Amino acid sequence: MSEPTPSFHPVAIALGDRSYDIHIGPGLLRRSDTWAGLPRAQTAMIVTNTTIAPLYEAALRSAIAPHYRQVRTVVLPDGEAHKDWPTLNLIFDALLGQGCDRKTVLFALGGGVVGDMTGFAAASFMRGVPFVQVPTTLLAQVDSSVGGKTAINHPLGKNMIGAFYQPVRVVCDLDTLATLPPRELSAGLAEVIKYGPIADMAFLDWIEANIDALMAQDPAALAHAVQRSCEIKAWVVGQDEREAGLRAILNFGHTFGHAIEAGLGFGVWLHGEAVGCGMVMAAELSQRLGLVDAALVARLRALIARAGLPVRGPVIDAADNAGHYIAHMRLDKKAVAGDIQFVLIDGPGQAKVAGAPDALVREVIQACCA
Ligand code: NAD
Ligand code: GLY
Repeated sequence: MSEPTPSFHPVAIALGDRSYDIHIGPGLLRRSDTWAGLPRAQTAMIVTNTTIAPLYEAALRSAIAPHYRQVRTVVLPDGEAHKDWPTLNLIFDALLGQGCDRKTVLFALGGGVVGDMTGFAAASFMRGVPFVQVPTTLLAQVDSSVGGKTAINHPLGKNMIGAFYQPVRVVCDLDTLATLPPRELSAGLAEVIKYGPIADMAFLDWIEANIDALMAQDPAALAHAVQRSCEIKAWVVGQDEREAGLRAILNFGHTFGHAIEAGLGFGVWLHGEAVGCGMVMAAELSQRLGLVDAALVARLRALIARAGLPVRGPVIDAADNAGHYIAHMRLDKKAVAGDIQFVLIDGPGQAKVAGAPDALVREVIQACCA
């Protein structure tokens, strides 16, 4: 079962003078009119990576060329392991070395890694230049390109250095998903599934009914998944841009997930894989705290497995696995004075942020890790 007639309409992010639209549809990247109406500038800088450049850089360059006197490109090394200072500096080297100025518009062409780094570069180059998100992974289209979180990693923690800085437009060309490797598709599905238990049980029902179509890259199913995910994220970000409260629910699964990513070393598990498994662990914790019944946890676990994602956490330290998870989680950005905060399911379609006794957290880690 999939959506028979996808209808594409821009999703608005309402943030006053930082408002912008998310454009979703097939074929958008190659159309020149997609890029009309952006801030005026002499120069555009496409930031991409070694995998995406051969696939889409030329098409984007041709499409935006009518709007700028010159289009430059910087090609970064690919991978989460390169979401760091030296790679960020390559963007600044290119901007400064190629005569860019404070009006230059940056185009982040790629997945969440390119998007997060380009956004951070845009936030800080000459104290801020406009940037456009052109997400090419499912994960980036449904989550990371929207909402203005930008960052690089620190060896001690995920996304620890960054800024809130909104793009001026997001363009999700659904055709780019056709070249996505299956493992990356699954990683993106983790962030799609996330929206169900925290905000929209009807969407969770729909994902369950359509998971085979999504896994088969059915265009109509993917279109609906991107559209609905962006609508939910826009609704959350519109109320709480800087994560003073509500926005933290979007981190469901991320507290355990970030411990997996940092504990194993960035890039060993994909971000979406860690989040998928982290959602199972957070749901387990919610159940042990008496917030949800076992049936919802089982349902979530089964869906995450059907999405091709791991549902058992890795052992990151054979001697004291739970201790190592907890040590990493104490560095999570949500932690308050070292007290870990979890996004918990607080009944179907609702989430809350709260602490949990260490002993219970240890139980969950022991029960959920291979
Ligand atoms: P990614 O950017 O590493 O992309 C995954 C892989 O797919 C890379 O090898 C990339 O080169 C390749 N790729 C991208 N598009 C492709 C295409 N169309 N065809 C073929 N290959 C393609 O990973 P991701 O999953 O997109 O993003 C994960 C990152 O996003 C993490 O660093 C995470 O912290 C961040 N993130 C940020 C936010 C936010 O709100 N800013 C939210 C969620 C995740
Ligand atoms: N991906 C979590 C957020 O944007 O807040």
